[in-house]
Formats: sequence, C-alpha cells, structure tokens
Amino acid sequence: MSQQLTIRRPDDWHLHLRDGAMMEGVLPASRDVARAIIMPNLVPPVVTGEQAAAYRDRILAALPEGQDFTPLMTLYLTEDTSPDDVAAAHASGLVKAVKLYPAGATTNSASGVKNISAVMPVLERMAEIGLSLCVHGEVTDADVDIFDREAVYIDRVLAPLRRNLPELKITMEHVTTSDGVDFIKDGAENIAGTFTVQHLVLNRNDMLVGGIRPHFYCLPILKRMDHQKALRAAATSGDPRFFNGTDSAPHATHTKENACGCAGVFSAPVAVAWIAQVFEEENALDRLEGFLSLNGPKHYGMPVNEDRITLSRSDKPVPFPAAVETGAGPVTVFDPGLPLYWKIND
Ligand code: NCD
Ligand code: ZN
Repeated sequence: MSQQLTIRRPDDWHLHLRDGAMMEGVLPASRDVARAIIMPNLVPPVVTGEQAAAYRDRILAALPEGQDFTPLMTLYLTEDTSPDDVAAAHASGLVKAVKLYPAGATTNSASGVKNISAVMPVLERMAEIGLSLCVHGEVTDADVDIFDREAVYIDRVLAPLRRNLPELKITMEHVTTSDGVDFIKDGAENIAGTFTVQHLVLNRNDMLVGGIRPHFYCLPILKRMDHQKALRAAATSGDPRFFNGTDSAPHATHTKENACGCAGVFSAPVAVAWIAQVFEEENALDRLEGFLSLNGPKHYGMPVNEDRITLSRSDKPVPFPAAVETGAGPVTVFDPGLPLYWKIND
C-alpha cells in the first residue's frame, strides 16, 4: 500500500544555480520548489543591486516553459558593500537577503568578509530595515581544524554579533554541528538555521570509510555521527527556527572526481524526497510541512505558498537519474547509496 501526503509546496532557502549553460541545465531540477534563495557566489560575485537584477533576468529567461519558480535574490557582502545600495535593493523588493561568506571559506568566496567590523555599517542598516543576513558560518584560519571551523565561528563571530546587534535577522545556513543547533535554540526568534539533505542523511564516515567519496564532499564538511543525530532531532522537532536550505551546489562531475575535487553536493533533483524519508525515519511526517514549506516563509516574512504537492511512499525503491546533463557537462545527482522510497507526484 502506498502512503500519500499532501503539503503546501516547499521552498529552498539556499540554492546555487550558477549561470549560463550550467544554470540552464540544472534549473529544471528545482521543479519541486516554488521559490529559492539564490546564492550570489558567481564569478564575479553578485555584489550590487544592478547585478542581482540582471542575474534574476537571466534565471527567468532560462526557466523552462511552465516551470513555476521564483528566484529570491541575494547580494554578496564585501567589505566595500554600500549600505545605501543594499537598502535600495531591499526597498525595490528585489533582494531578500545578504550573504556573508568569510573570505576563502568555500567555492568562489575570495571577495568575502575578512573582518566583521568592516561590514558593521551594512549590518546595522539591515537590522534597521529588517533584511536577513545569510551566513556561511566557518572560520578560515589555517590553524583551526576543518571539523572545528563552525564551532569556532560561532564563538568568535556569531555570538558577539548576536550580542552587539540583537535585532539583526540571521540565517545560519547549512548547520552541521550540535554547536550550531544549540546556538540557534539559545537565541531569539530572529535567528534561524537551515539544514541540507546530505548533512541529515550522512556523516563523515559515509564520506571517508571504505574509500573516499567526492560526491559527498561539501562545505561545511560532513561531521561525526553525534552531530548528524543532533541535526536530525532539531530538523524534525517542529521548532519553527529550523527549515530547508538544500545548498544544492552543482559542479560538473569531472571537477569533483579529481585530485583536487570541488566542494558541493547537487541534491536538487531528489532533495524533497530525501527530506520526506528522513522525517519518516524520525516518525515526524506531521512536521514535514513546517520544515519544507512554513518555517522559512515565517522567518523571511513572506506568505506561504498556496499550491500543494503530493508525496508518495512506495514499497519498492524509487529510481532517480544518476546525473543531469548540462551544457557544462554532466552533474552527478546526490545518491547516498541507500534506497529512496519517496517521490513527488507529477
Ligand atoms: C558551495 C558552492 O559550490 O558554491 N559549495 C558547498 O560545498 N556548499 C558553496 C557553499 O555554499 O559553501
Ligand atoms: Zn551554498
């Protein structure tokens, strides 16, 4: 007997679409979501309102006919970002968040922030106007171990920021540790966290035991099993401060299966189905709609989607494509090597 579940259409509060041929190839994979926060880490990055408007137009032009998808644009925060430009891009309705990449933390983050005090005037203006800050929360110091970089970032940057500017709306993106979960739980309503599919489904053993699996490599890196358990508990707890941000990050397969492979997991085609499976495993299907479709809009002060999707659970594993073909080469689809039983009805 197959089980069916109808929920409001989900959103994705952290998505990489890239540009050009890659974007055109991966856009259809986001058909399960109505809206997505679009990451600005292009080369060069999307820094100004003008660049964000042009990028939005390119996304809309590349959308397949009939795909109902709204890109929610972001600006890439640099130490030269002007508070006035940010405020104008927000006032026009174009920009829904500003993204803070610590310089050098991840893919295309070279122009990110080195010193948080250099961007305080922008953050103060954002707090005033109610614009959200999305944070890639990892330090980049060479002497901090890669597995500790999130916890250290909380201590050194996020905790002081919350103390100094308590009104600022913050999304701590791709939370990967119990430290991140605790930081959000200890805070007020305006500080939220997103989880990716891969951090809910996998831990670092899956990436490193019995062979190294480059398609599980992303940043922040997968952590130990205890952290994975804490993320699963938080995501399925019903706490409205936790919601879906897949961080689906396409890289052509050959650039990941490489002596120096790129960071990023392309989960968009299967993300909603895998999240449903996690919620089933945690006996929390009644909270799935909150995580996928209600908590995000609440944090961002946007209406929930009016349309619905129906998910079905089958008794047999559901097949899904191993890769998506794009003009920039094939992109391997996230496959944790476990059977997937959920799918989204057409
Ligand atoms: C992202 C990318 O490829 O742009 N990679 C990743 O591992 N998550 C950048 C990011 O969000 O860190
Ligand atoms: Zn990302």
